[in-house]
Amino acid sequence: MTRGATAPSLAEAVREATAVLAAAGVPSPRVDAELLAEHLLGVGLGRLRALLLGDSPAPDGYAELVAERAQRIPLQHITGVAHFRYLELAVGPGVFIPRPETESVVQLVIDRLQGMARPKVVDLGTGSGAIAGSIAHEVPGAEVHAVEYSEFAHAWAAKNLLPLGVVLIRGDLRDALPEHNGSFDVVVSNPPYIPAEAIPNEPEVALHDPPEALYGGGADGMELPTAAAASAARLLVPGGYFVMEHAEVQSAWIAAMLNRTGLWSEVTTHRDLNGKDRATSAVLAVPAPLADQGSQEVMKE
Ligand SMILES: C[S@@+](CC[C@H](N)C(=O)[O-])C[C@H]1O[C@@H](n2cnc3c(N)ncnc32)[C@H](O)[C@@H]1O
Repeated sequence: MTRGATAPSLAEAVREATAVLAAAGVPSPRVDAELLAEHLLGVGLGRLRALLLGDSPAPDGYAELVAERAQRIPLQHITGVAHFRYLELAVGPGVFIPRPETESVVQLVIDRLQGMARPKVVDLGTGSGAIAGSIAHEVPGAEVHAVEYSEFAHAWAAKNLLPLGVVLIRGDLRDALPEHNGSFDVVVSNPPYIPAEAIPNEPEVALHDPPEALYGGGADGMELPTAAAASAARLLVPGGYFVMEHAEVQSAWIAAMLNRTGLWSEVTTHRDLNGKDRATSAVLAVPAPLADQGSQEVMKE
């Protein structure tokens, strides 16, 4: 196919897009330029790289998507998809974009579930459903529940989790699932944990991740993580496993908070793939006193 005089080749368009995105401060301009082209062409990275070596034209609409990304709209909001472990999750405005660090938290859960016949797991603050969906997908036979408070995030989670057989609850992690008290083998959470004053620098996060997914409450951001730990103590069987993601600087505080309750043993800090202390796990030694019952709405396909 011959191109018109003004139509750039795919290779030229991706080069120009890389420059535009770099000028806009996008952290990985070449990767994003390629991913936007891949998305429009509906091909994988291998095929895209082959097309870049030839004389293929740039796809229609490419410049428009690059312009959106240059406004620091998250790549995943533009493509509508976030890749997380083996899943392609539907995402968009109103839901937290799952991060690669969280994949390590899922691995801790999967390792813990090895050899268990029909483990029962709950993900508190599921967002897009990245954690709960991955466990349902990768651990055959697991009974997976997920809790989400935000109406908008819950709608995205429903889209991603109901086809995977996850039981999704719209509720508050502080009092959700009282009818399941003392019955889960694993409670996992990536709760909001950013301190109130620590506004993230990246526009993709500050302007596009929902505030209710970021700020943990209180000056130190620790209200919701502390509540997640209390709910874990209520929901787990004795000997059950709790794992929670947090910021690197919060690891000592979280370990001390868990130890102080006297409910937990084996409190352990875990590093992510970058060597940062980004998760803490513990085993329930003593069940927590029963909490009040909360109201919630259950969804299951
Ligand atoms: C940091 S995001 C994590 C989302 C997802 N688990 C992930 O790792 O990608 C925290 C999530 O907790 C939800 N959330 C905030 N407060 C909550 C509450 N009180 N009860 C349940 N979910 C809550 C937010 O809406 C958000 O989806």
